[in-house]
Amino acid sequence: MTETLDIKITKTKHSRLNETDFDNLPFGKIFTDHMFVADYADGEWKNLQVVPYGDISFSPAISSLHYGQSFFEGIKAYKHADGQVSVFRPDKNAARFNKSAERLCMPTLPEEIFLQSIAAVIDVDRDWVPAQANHSLYIRPFMFATDRFLGVAPSTTYSYMVLLCPVGPYFSKTLRVKIETHFTRAAEGGMGYAKSSGNYGGSMYPAKKATEEGFDQLIWTDAKDHKYIEEMGAANVMFVLDGTLITPSTRDTILDGVTRDTVLTLAREWGMPVEERRVSIAEIIEGAKNGKLTDAFGAGTAATLAPVGSISHEGEEYFLSDPQTREFSQKMLKALNAIRYGDAPDVHGWNYMV
Ligand code: PLP
Ligand code: COI
Repeated sequence: MTETLDIKITKTKHSRLNETDFDNLPFGKIFTDHMFVADYADGEWKNLQVVPYGDISFSPAISSLHYGQSFFEGIKAYKHADGQVSVFRPDKNAARFNKSAERLCMPTLPEEIFLQSIAAVIDVDRDWVPAQANHSLYIRPFMFATDRFLGVAPSTTYSYMVLLCPVGPYFSKTLRVKIETHFTRAAEGGMGYAKSSGNYGGSMYPAKKATEEGFDQLIWTDAKDHKYIEEMGAANVMFVLDGTLITPSTRDTILDGVTRDTVLTLAREWGMPVEERRVSIAEIIEGAKNGKLTDAFGAGTAATLAPVGSISHEGEEYFLSDPQTREFSQKMLKALNAIRYGDAPDVHGWNYMV
């Protein structure tokens, strides 16, 4: 049995819940009343606390600001019809959290601190979990280095925090995406498999250029030859090609997504042929041309399943079918939602009740 951790709880005197417009929840802008904080020093995690959400103060010399020793996770909690709240597969995020920590020379966090910190802050802010369809509570655990030291070396002190945001859908439309063959998100030997903050900072310039060209997202390709598809924006990417669900196999340039794993697991259970392998640009473009590419979508916690409407490559735009008519992703989205919102039996034990 896991021990219950000693988490100090200080509640706010001024809840913002009643002032919050739950019909207007732009992603990541509205925060709940509380947050979780813990400190790492002298080789251990201490001062586990839930405190009122608010600004924090640090030395301007902290090494996360200068050298990017910083990473995060993204998870969602869902409100069931009976009012219960579940968090979707947070054990997977706990494991990935520690993979990121290791890659960045940062301390790992015991799984029980990760899970209980999330449970503790959600418990205090339970009324913030939205009840509307397609809404959820986005959970953002993160860690950053806090030594004030300008030498390039791993910090000896860190902060771990958890923020919560009530959210609606991340993407509101079908995506026009471009296959990026110049810029790179991650290279072999780099840290693409980690959820390090720097990966996202580095993706903004190419994404901005694509937006200026009228695209919504980029499909990242391999750094060496730009011939193979890797991910799509901040999501994994999946295709149905000639009746088979295909997705790039994970490697050190690709984030091993929880949504990706969930979709692959369900698809295999349904008897759908599934291939995790290198996926070439050439075969996807060929499939778009000859009609064998019947589905394409991003898969991620924030993104959920985000349909791709068209794919552009070398100046040519290839249009796919109307997402509403796509058999696989429509069925998958329904199945995923049914499990997450407690409308279908959770036979895999994916829902962590809080
Ligand atoms: N790839 C990247 C780069 C991401 O930022 C995300 C989002 O978390 C994903 C993939 C999808 O991962 P998950 O399904 O665990 O959210
Ligand atoms: C998530 O899906 O949790 C992500 O990391 C996307 C985020 C960068 C908005």
